[in-house]
Amino acid sequence: PKVICVDDSDGSRHELAVDAGCSLMSAAVAANVAGIVAECGGSCSCATCHVYVAEEWCDALDEPTPEETDLLEFLESVRPNSRLSCQILLTDELDGLTVRVPESAE
Ligand code: FES
Repeated sequence: PKVICVDDSDGSRHELAVDAGCSLMSAAVAANVAGIVAECGGSCSCATCHVYVAEEWCDALDEPTPEETDLLEFLESVRPNSRLSCQILLTDELDGLTVRVPESAE
């Protein structure tokens, strides 16, 4: 199992033990992380799974697809380290990955 850290929109840190192969979004939803709504269920069309990736982890992730980039551009809260968590597949290399849920998230 891997451990990833998610700081939710209420400011609490969740350390999640997850298996490789699931998405960051599904791990966060399973753990009831505040602010990860994931309305579309992971099909890259709702942007309610938006997270900021800790700077030291940005290079470890695959580049976003054009679909993901398009969707992120619609968000007022978008930043250079913004990602959709449903598009981040958790691999063994991402042990320790740290992300934060935007404060503006519902
Ligand atoms: Fe909808 Fe990620 S869950 S875009």
